[in-house]
Amino acid sequence: MLQVLVGLWLVFFTATQALDNGLMRTPPMGWLAWERFRCDIDCEDDPQNCISEVLFRDMADRLAEDGWRELGYVYINIDDCWASKERDEQGRLQPDPKRFPGGISKLARYVHDRGLKLGIYGDLGTYTCGGYPGTTLDKIEIDAQTFAEWEVDMLKLDGCYSNASEQEQGYPLMSKALNATGRPIGYSCSWPAYQGGLPPKVNYTLLGEICNLWRNYDDIEDSWASVLGIVDWFTKNQDILQPAAGPGRWNDPDMLVIGNFGLSMDQSRSQMALWAIMAAPLFMSNDLRTLNSGARAILQNKAAISINQDVLGIQGRRLLKESNGIEVFWRPLSNKASALVFFSRRTDMPYRYQTSLQALNYTAGTYKVYDVFMEKPMPMLKDSTPFVVSINPSGVVMWYVAPSAEWKNEAMSSHFNEKLKSPKFL
Ligand code: GLA
Repeated sequence: MLQVLVGLWLVFFTATQALDNGLMRTPPMGWLAWERFRCDIDCEDDPQNCISEVLFRDMADRLAEDGWRELGYVYINIDDCWASKERDEQGRLQPDPKRFPGGISKLARYVHDRGLKLGIYGDLGTYTCGGYPGTTLDKIEIDAQTFAEWEVDMLKLDGCYSNASEQEQGYPLMSKALNATGRPIGYSCSWPAYQGGLPPKVNYTLLGEICNLWRNYDDIEDSWASVLGIVDWFTKNQDILQPAAGPGRWNDPDMLVIGNFGLSMDQSRSQMALWAIMAAPLFMSNDLRTLNSGARAILQNKAAISINQDVLGIQGRRLLKESNGIEVFWRPLSNKASALVFFSRRTDMPYRYQTSLQALNYTAGTYKVYDVFMEKPMPMLKDSTPFVVSINPSGVVMWYVAPSAEWKNEAMSSHFNEKLKSPKFL
């Protein structure tokens, strides 16, 4: 009997152990190649932009030297098309020898030397979505070991060219295999993006136990329509998605496309604000070498980042959808604070939206408000006092809101101010 109990305890203990790698207690931040650089493998004609070690070293330099790393953008992630079309004689994945002549370990060292982390891409299936060698069930262990030997810090496991039953076996198996390597490797699962259905037929409890983040939905593109489509899908399904997120387990609405060609400045602020409210991973996919100062300011906005990175890790939700095209999003934060996003879907002119904190379910009291993109504190606000925000078409107004008593409280303000290291907040 005792043996049975010990056995059961061991099964339970190892199971729970295997489920928590202790990583990504706040949403991961960094840079990911896919949306901006796709599967450009033409290094002869396009040496600066093709998927090669040069591109990742360039971006690592930028993350380390242009203030990104200090803000939390530490992952530099390879996506599809890095691999050679053939595995090596031992059956291991290998990088394309022309484009990654130094190999992945050397690139990992380069990245680690700069205080950053390296992510890599694989696909549970016969091929990756781009047609490179995939990780079939029999290859899971060897691939996990290879990534660990290379000292990779994160794996995005895509799901092209596999069926539902292979995915059901494969995603948990890779989780175990990564843990078994002994190297902490953040695990991004594309599994739910291949399950679909409305509402999504996805076991989010299980996902939270085996993955650190997961792609729920379609790929982002460099357009406002694409961003809006993703926001709409996430909002529509928020009752299912919101409770699934928490420290170490995040819904992933896909990359930030701020700094590319498709979004206006207002739309860029909207993506940043909504991704912060959704507690989304913040992986930029842009060209950090040529980023304009407007995009940089949005992506490096300390208050937006701090809201995204709040330690409670509670995903926000849409509170209101007005018939006039205004929507209000809200996210509870630590120290009794919260974030509000007033979002306009209008296409005419800045809209003067009138409301009050009381109307947005705030409890009675006085609040201190900081405008995230204006980067300045607003006058004290009583819950019952009506106020007006002017919201640009496809733009946002984003607020950090804290009860004024709490704001004066040292613990609370030091949390916010220290994290942001910004004298403007004091
Ligand atoms: C899928 C993924 C994308 C990207 C491509 C690569 O479409 O969802 O994020 O990784 O594959 O081929």
